[in-house]
Amino acid sequence: MSATRTVDVGRHYTVHVGPGVLEHARSFCEQYRRVFVLSDENVARLHGDRVRGWPHSTLHVVPAGERSKDFATLERVLEAMVQAGLDRKCALVAFGGGVVGDLGGLAASLCLRGIDCVQAPTSLLAMVDSSVGGKTAVNLPGGKNLAGTFHHPRAVYADTELLATLPDEELRAGFGEVLKTAVLDGDLLPRILGDAAALRARQPDALADVVHACVALKGHVVARDPHEAGPRKVLNLGHTFAHAIEHVAGFGVVPHGVAVAVGVGLAVRLALVMEKLSSPTLAADCERAARALGLPTSLRELGVALPEDALLSAMRVDKKNRDGSVRFVLPLAPGQCMRDVEAGDEVVLGVLRASGAAPARGR
Ligand SMILES: NC(=O)c1ccc[n+]([C@@H]2O[C@H](COP(=O)([O-])OP(=O)(O)OC[C@H]3O[C@@H](n4cnc5c(N)ncnc54)[C@H](O)[C@@H]3O)[C@@H](O)[C@H]2O)c1
Ligand SMILES: [Zn+2]
Repeated sequence: MSATRTVDVGRHYTVHVGPGVLEHARSFCEQYRRVFVLSDENVARLHGDRVRGWPHSTLHVVPAGERSKDFATLERVLEAMVQAGLDRKCALVAFGGGVVGDLGGLAASLCLRGIDCVQAPTSLLAMVDSSVGGKTAVNLPGGKNLAGTFHHPRAVYADTELLATLPDEELRAGFGEVLKTAVLDGDLLPRILGDAAALRARQPDALADVVHACVALKGHVVARDPHEAGPRKVLNLGHTFAHAIEHVAGFGVVPHGVAVAVGVGLAVRLALVMEKLSSPTLAADCERAARALGLPTSLRELGVALPEDALLSAMRVDKKNRDGSVRFVLPLAPGQCMRDVEAGDEVVLGVLRASGAAPARGR
């Protein structure tokens, strides 16, 4: 049994990681007059018993999947919160993956102009990434995460025991964000290389260790820049490529975390071509780590035709590049990144082609 670890995210909150920490969430919530637990149908079916007996609590379940991150569901959740008789001495507990975390965080920030939110992530992606940082959102027809707030949780409880039931493809998607973190954190990449087999086998200590390391890195970055004024943008490593891959493939075809894994590899290669990379081994280590975690390392391996011109246009309209130029977070060495790096179209196209992008449409 691994121990519980805590990460102090500045003045904001503590993140508890390890098997069984959900019990501590229950104790933490005793300070509230009433607790509104939001979950999705898969998590409620598999793990609902872990929260059903909580005192003064209401469980509200939304359909599983990205489609629940919309205004119609948000409105139903807010209405249910009012029906449950919540006031400002109450809290929402987001018990689920990133969808429940983002939707629940937004509902908590809007209900009565803001009540406390406790994040209890159940997917690997939510544990290593979305539950920490305070970003909440729903999607609009015009794009993902376009309506949201910053609403930092009061506490995060990442109970790694819950990962035992996570479907394999969701575990793999979580590994994509782990790979990103490993490139951002100098020490994690060699550890991943050593522990990849144990992680894929869901060995509890290995999972708790990696969640802890990812939360520590994210917590450190977020504490320095809680509202993404600048330094926090390094967390977008690989995401300019990843968003373009997701968009061109059609949303849902390539899971976000898998697109991130390929995007991180492309960012490393772009840094190499632009002679920014000072580490001679980073590119090879990143590729080895991706393979060891069962992740693709090129566009070719995604098995979807991704025309190079479509990828480039998608990068231009990515919300982080409003002035039309494509900017990247590029790794310089393990644990060191540069943000807002502009790259010429030809250089980017060269990297995309080498990775297996399809020829431009109409060529
Ligand atoms: N706020 C942020 O900073 C941030 C960061 C990254 C991603 N996100 C958002 O997170 C979302 C993706 O999160 P996700 O990958 O967790 O998706 P998700 O919430 O849809 O969960 C993935 C699937 O796994 C199931 N699941 C979750 N935990 C389970 C468990 N323990 N056992 C069995 N099944 C389980 C869910 O029911 C769902 O079907 C996206 O909407 C993305 O935009 C937000
Ligand atoms: Zn991501």
